Amino acid sequence: MKYNIAVVPGDGIGPEVVAEALKVLDRVGEKFGHEFNYTKVLAGGCAIDEVGEPLPEESLKICKENDAVLLGAVGGWKWDDLPGDQRPEKALLGLRKGLALFANLRPALLFDELADACPLKKEIVDGGLDLVVVRELTGGIYFGEKGRKQTDMGEAAYDIEIYSEEEIERIAEVAFDMAMKRGKKVTSVDKANVLESSRLWRSVVMKVAEKYPEVELNHLYVDNAVMQIIRDPKQFDVIVTSNMFGDILSDGASQVTGSIGMLPSASLAKGNFGMYEPVHGSAPDLAGTGKANPMATILSVAMMLRYSFDLSEEADAIENAVKKVLADKYRTPDIMLNEKDPDACKLIGTKEAGDLITANI
Ligand code: IPM
Ligand code: MN
Repeated sequence: MKYNIAVVPGDGIGPEVVAEALKVLDRVGEKFGHEFNYTKVLAGGCAIDEVGEPLPEESLKICKENDAVLLGAVGGWKWDDLPGDQRPEKALLGLRKGLALFANLRPALLFDELADACPLKKEIVDGGLDLVVVRELTGGIYFGEKGRKQTDMGEAAYDIEIYSEEEIERIAEVAFDMAMKRGKKVTSVDKANVLESSRLWRSVVMKVAEKYPEVELNHLYVDNAVMQIIRDPKQFDVIVTSNMFGDILSDGASQVTGSIGMLPSASLAKGNFGMYEPVHGSAPDLAGTGKANPMATILSVAMMLRYSFDLSEEADAIENAVKKVLADKYRTPDIMLNEKDPDACKLIGTKEAGDLITANI
């Protein structure tokens, strides 16, 4: 089969980790007899530098014309002082909205080999940790009306949290479908004791749940959810929540695995189209050092194969190759756990990690 992929290397370590992911993908193509075609797309800070805007129209158009998008990372100190709508982050938000990527899947998986990276006590994560945050990605406060106005207490600013039934229903369906393929448990996170939008959220999620009698549903207020992720993360299977709560909870959940450099994500539209990117950012301090961990991006490619192209055997091959490299005790600096005992594991860089994973496919 032939697949066309729009590739957004972006800023910072983005281009470096993306290069390794494409190496791995090429190897998958060779082994399983697929052709992957790449079209490079300009977006992020580099687009601001080159053409004066974070997401040129042409870039969005190219993404739409492809079967899926692979993104490295966008942003960096260099563009931090620009006004909100001209920052590199605008590229990300523009891609999400422009490509209708309403469902963001952020798995937090603790690899056995990296169990020591978990900052929680051993008994709390004993037996492994495997949860996924399903974050609504094109609605809520991120995209609601925002503005400023004069008040008798000086200038005021506002951002409106707004959700429609349809937006809630479709993200809830993604979460329940996912739970059916996993542990059959959905936790919906809201702030229904305070927010009207959360009260609608909760009632729609409960209605969707009726179509999935096998799935156990429970609700948590977001403040409690944060506490529970730290106290007992194993209680979770699928967490479904709004754009802003999902942003916050997914960072929290990722840190429980101790290795954000390992975590992939998928942002899905209706149908098979999706954008795939590592959870970590552009890490400008690491750019050019050759030390960045490409595994999150490589695992994002595995998610692309699974969710957009329905190639689960190929996706398994990538995930197993990553596990093998970890089992062989190769570590990039971010997951090198015991620096005092450098003999225990072998320190590798971005390129070596990509080469080793490629060689294991
Ligand atoms: C994320 C990021 C983005 C978000 C930023 C960079 C706009 O934090 O993908 O989680 O808030 O969604
Ligand atoms: Mn975030």
